[in-house]
Amino acid sequence: MSVFSQKICLKNRIDVAKFASNVITDQLSVDENSVLGLATGSTPEQTYRELVKKHISGQNSWSQVRTVNLDEYYGLDRNNPQSYHHYMHVHLFNHVDIPECNTLIPDGTTSDPVAEARDYEQKIVALGGIDLWLIGIGSNGHIAFNEPGSSRDSRTRLVRLSNKTISDNSRLFEKKADVPTQALTAGIATILEAKKILLIATGKNKSAAINAALNNPIGPDCPASFLRLHPNCMFVVDEAAARGCRNNFR
Ligand code: GLP
Repeated sequence: MSVFSQKICLKNRIDVAKFASNVITDQLSVDENSVLGLATGSTPEQTYRELVKKHISGQNSWSQVRTVNLDEYYGLDRNNPQSYHHYMHVHLFNHVDIPECNTLIPDGTTSDPVAEARDYEQKIVALGGIDLWLIGIGSNGHIAFNEPGSSRDSRTRLVRLSNKTISDNSRLFEKKADVPTQALTAGIATILEAKKILLIATGKNKSAAINAALNNPIGPDCPASFLRLHPNCMFVVDEAAARGCRNNFR
């Protein structure tokens, strides 16, 4: 069994972030030209803080790294404080030595989302694919913005967000009506093509989704369950997120 297919439960979100930042730093030291897939949301914020700390202390360099993000809200300009472009700059890119031209995030303002999605897939192929994709999970089991109902073969595309996701993510907006109803997201097939996947989840509001991802039948009802088809997908969660399925973890 590959080390990367392990399921690991750690005490709290800080331990999860430290673990994830070590995995990513190891990846960069093995290959400084790595193509990293990245995620947004509250969960990876601490991982990015840990990565920035390591960068400041000289433990990782991003000068040759290329990054690809999972998704972007449709309709939000890159300078909008709620956009994932803005998030990535605030939490990571502004603090490490990555050239802006080495970062890739879907353009949420495109007037042609079909072309944008097709180009996104082509750009990932041109990069040689993703070496390691850091991902989170929604409370309804979504990964990126692949909501329940998404198929195994889905590719980068424009999607409609579920009411659950809109209401979960509304905490980051002034009011619920401000949350975009659509997003451009990498598909399940896009994600599964990464060489390695590192899923992180913390907090009790993720425990049902983690349980479903690991124990329900693999299928569109819980998009994260498709990760079980990947030979090198590591789940790293805290005790609260593992509640109810502790025996899935070491
Ligand atoms: C958003 C993102 C997902 C992320 C999810 C969970 O919907 N598109 O990539 O996994 O939020 O976010 P959080 O970590 O804030 O719970």
